[in-house]
Formats: sequence, structure tokens, C-alpha cells
Amino acid sequence: MSDIQARFQILSGKNSLEELIFYLKNKDNRISGIFVLTDLNTRKHCYPRLFKKLHQNQILHDVISIQPGEASKSLETCDYLWNWLIKKNADRSSLLINLGGGMISDVGGFVSAVFKRGMRFVNIPTSLMGQVDASLGGKTGINFKGFKNQLGSFTPPEFVVIDPVFLSSLPQREYCSAFPELMKYALISRPAWIELLDSEFPESISFSMGNMPDLEKLMERSVNCKMDFVKGDLIDQNRRKALNAGHTIGHAMESYFANSKEMQLLHGEAVGIGLIVELYVSYKMYGFPGKLLSAVANSIISRTGKFDIPMDIDLFMEQLVEDKKNFEGKILFSLLKEPGVVIFDQEVDTALLSEGLKFYNSFPDAQLC
Ligand SMILES: NC(=O)c1ccc[n+]([C@@H]2O[C@H](COP(=O)([O-])OP(=O)(O)OC[C@H]3O[C@@H](n4cnc5c(N)ncnc54)[C@H](O)[C@@H]3O)[C@@H](O)[C@H]2O)c1
Ligand SMILES: [Zn+2]
Repeated sequence: MSDIQARFQILSGKNSLEELIFYLKNKDNRISGIFVLTDLNTRKHCYPRLFKKLHQNQILHDVISIQPGEASKSLETCDYLWNWLIKKNADRSSLLINLGGGMISDVGGFVSAVFKRGMRFVNIPTSLMGQVDASLGGKTGINFKGFKNQLGSFTPPEFVVIDPVFLSSLPQREYCSAFPELMKYALISRPAWIELLDSEFPESISFSMGNMPDLEKLMERSVNCKMDFVKGDLIDQNRRKALNAGHTIGHAMESYFANSKEMQLLHGEAVGIGLIVELYVSYKMYGFPGKLLSAVANSIISRTGKFDIPMDIDLFMEQLVEDKKNFEGKILFSLLKEPGVVIFDQEVDTALLSEGLKFYNSFPDAQLC
């Protein structure tokens, strides 16, 4: 299980879809049936492009679409998809193509991992979040009983096909929600990217069809960064835990707001809040540079916007105690001593967490130097 690269290949760039088609056409690959999973948005905006390629190459397939949004990461959706696969006579040699953002690759990956003890699957991520993070690394999963990613597996896809052309229809808010994950990569491993990110990822250009920023280099760096962490630690026991920075608070925020229906918080936006709060904790516990924390907070908030979050940590406690990273009932964090130096499995006092939430809420008044 450790050599993840031996088990899946990343095809990227403008010929990547062609390469996938070539693979699908090759009889030696013994694919018994092809199934495509989309949500209603990617069905409309992304599937026509895939359909055209499959059709041109006389590759038969079936397609199914589910509702967009985090609520579809559920057991009910899996039930619906497993029933469909059974009805269509899918078997372990069939291939599911997950065409969509992180929600689709998480659900489709999980459905494939469990169906008949594992059918084949490919991810074609269509959101920036999917292309730089969610489709890579082999984590699949769904939410359960109001808690994030409670059921899942570590199952790498056969291929990940990264074609930036799919991003041309992505709404601006979704686009910007990937920014905190990119910032996380810079913080945990490549401090030199922190400033670079600010210049490469536009803050205020109007994103519209045909006017998308050119993020190709940034995306390539990010994909390599994620794979560096995943390689040799597929199941999150050591080095890979650095990728969880910002995600203990982030997941608690995401679940809390999903359950309370007060406002909608995207995964990346929740991670943005989580990063700022956890960097504040790192600043207090390990002396992470305060000036840099303020700069990072500015950078994130200028992309994702700022949200009003409750300052009482007790409200998030139910979510925090169910976090998958916990051990023996202890809530554990991946914190930063300094950029590039992550320490795993750290416990944090709840009073300090409350202080972190307060810091977030009172930013930018609460600038540090
Ligand atoms: N498994 C992992 O390692 C991992 C890592 C990061 C995030 N995730 C998960 O991924 C999910 C977040 O991913 P996401 O931000 O991509 O969310 P998402 O899949 O919900 O997509 C965001 C929205 O954009 C739409 N969309 C996607 N591509 C589009 C396109 N090309 N054109 C138009 N609309 C498009 C979707 O329909 C949806 O409405 C969360 O559930 C998160 O937990 C998983
Ligand atoms: Zn994430």
C-alpha cells in the first residue's frame, strides 16, 4: 500500500483526456463496462466534452448524475449508485469515471472501493479544489450522522486526469475556495511560495467564461507537493499528517454550519478559517511568526471573504470529538512551529482555541507583528 505512484498515474495537460481515451480503447486493459458519475452541474458543463470524445471513439458508456453539494456525500447517494451499478450489471472489471469536484471523487471513489470489494475508477476533477487536492491521494469518503468523512477508505484511482479546460465554467466562489489549500501547501513545505501565491492567484479579477486566470504552473507545483506527502504514507500515519493542517478546526466548522443551516460554508472556506485559527494557536504555543500569520490571514480573507463564526468553542466540540485524527479521545492538531516545520498529534487547550476563534473574528483589527 505504500507505493501509491505504482498504483495510479496522473495525466495532465491538454492531451490528458485523449490519453485516457487511448487507455479505454485498449482491449488489453480488460474493462468490462464504463460508467460515468457527475453532479447536475458537471453534467451540464463538463460531460458534453467527455461525451464527445467517448462518442467519437465509439466507446459505449452509461451516465448517472446526482445533486450537487456536500449533502450528496451520503449513504443514501451510495445506495442509489450501488443499485444503479447492479442494475447495469457492473462488475469488478468495470470502470467508474468520476467527473466533478471533490464531492464527486469522494463519493464515486467510495462507491467504487466498496462495490463488489472494489471496482475500478478514474477521477476527472473539474473544480480547482479537485484538480490540486481532492482527486489525488486516494482518500475516499462520505459524511455520516452529521460528521464529516466518517465512512471512507484509502483507495487510489487508476488514473487522475487533470485538464484545466474544465475549469472554464467553474463559479468564482468555488474557484477561490481552493486558495486556502494552496496556501496550506506553501505553509507546510515551501515557504517561498507564500509570496508567490499572492502574485499568481488573482484577488479581484472578474472570473468569467474565457477569462480565467492561468494557474497552470501553480497547479503543477501543488499537485507535486501533495504527491510528495502522500508517497510512502498513503494511510496518514506519519508525514502525510502535515496535509491536515487547518483541517481539525476546518472540518468542525464545515460540519457545524452544514448542520445549523445558518450559512453555507464551502470546504475550502472552512479550511481557510481553520488555517487562521490553527496558525494563531501555533503562534501562541510555538512562536509561529505573528507577522506572517497576519499576512496569511489577509491573503486568505481577500480570496474567500470573511465569515462570522461563533466564538464559543463548546459549540464546535461535538464535531471536534468525532474528528478522525483523534486518538484515545484526544483531539489532535497538525500545527506549525514555523513555515515548513509541522508537528503532528498536538493537543490544544480549549481556552486557546476560543482565543483563536476570537482572533479570526476580530481580524483585521487583531493584526499581529
Ligand atoms: N479526498 C480528499 O483528499 C479531499 C481533499 C479535499 C477536499 N475533499 C472534499 O472535496 C469536497 C470539496 O470539493 P469541491 O470544492 O470541488 O466541491 P464540489 O465537488 O461540491 O464542487 C463545488 C461546486 O462546483 C460545481 N462544479 C464543479 N466543477 C464545475 C465546473 N467545471 N463547472 C461548473 N460547476 C462545477 C459543483 O457542481 C459544485 O456545485 C468536500 O467534500 C471535501 O471534503 C476531499
Ligand atoms: Zn481539505
